[in-house]
Amino acid sequence: MSETPVHERILSERHGAVLALRFNRPEKKNALTVNMYELMLAQLAAAAADDSIRVVLIGGAGGSFTAGNDLMDFMGQPPTGTDSAVFRLLLALLDFDKPVVTAVEGPAVGIGVTMLLHTDLNYAKADAKFQMPFVSLGLCPEAASSLLLPQIMGFAKASELLLLSERFNGTEAAKYGLVNEAIEGDVFAHALAKAQRLAEMAPQSVRASKKLIRDPVREKVRETFWTEGAVFIERLGSAEAAEAFQAFFEKRKPNFK
Ligand code: COA
Repeated sequence: MSETPVHERILSERHGAVLALRFNRPEKKNALTVNMYELMLAQLAAAAADDSIRVVLIGGAGGSFTAGNDLMDFMGQPPTGTDSAVFRLLLALLDFDKPVVTAVEGPAVGIGVTMLLHTDLNYAKADAKFQMPFVSLGLCPEAASSLLLPQIMGFAKASELLLLSERFNGTEAAKYGLVNEAIEGDVFAHALAKAQRLAEMAPQSVRASKKLIRDPVREKVRETFWTEGAVFIERLGSAEAAEAFQAFFEKRKPNFK
């Protein structure tokens, strides 16, 4: 499969008052590069300023949500601090005052899972493939997931998914409370219908209510975000991460002995 041109890696389309954004790099299962984060940031900033957009819908093209951060990019342009695109995108979602709906199918890995902690309504295909392989990559949780996942699903399940990096499907994600619903059919159409319903609601009331839901934990989330971020940056430079990343590209098991 040929490389998707950089400027086409985020697709945007309007459905009335809903702006749909789709990760579009199917040849790499929509793995996200710094450039893709910048494109998403620009789209979100424009959507925030545009009164005709009431809801943002995020999905993936080509049968994948996203395989997470591009591992080559992580090695070549690792996040180093508050200016880093991956952190800025996650914070933009955390502070986005209009509702965000997601449609998840195929792989949803790493940030493909943790971003769902900061979006409002999440829908997944029953057979979507979720994984947070931070520890198996020699890294650590991100995006305040060490705080929010135990709140959502309890310490036991959150520890299993984070420490063992276990895979789970859309049906399980719904059972754990990570997504609203797992469905068998066209998840993008389903999520779009929910987004359009949301777009018909009183917009100021929706935004005020979103703020009320998120505000009580916002500062704690932000504090945890940066505590994790510092460890994440340290881990990215570790020998464990170097071995894990190399093993991925060599299609072998990492050796942490
Ligand atoms: N970074 C860079 N390249 C990635 C990638 C990533 N996160 N995820 C997938 N790719 C690439 C693969 O290397 C492969 O490239 P190639 O065709 O040049 O060999 C291509 O995308 C297709 O991936 P493949 O592994 O063959 O697809 P799959 O359907 O068998 O598996 C995944 C899909 C997502 C389960 C698997 O690719 C995977 O585990 N990716 C890594 C996910 C990850 O660790 N993300 C970072 C989290 S912090």
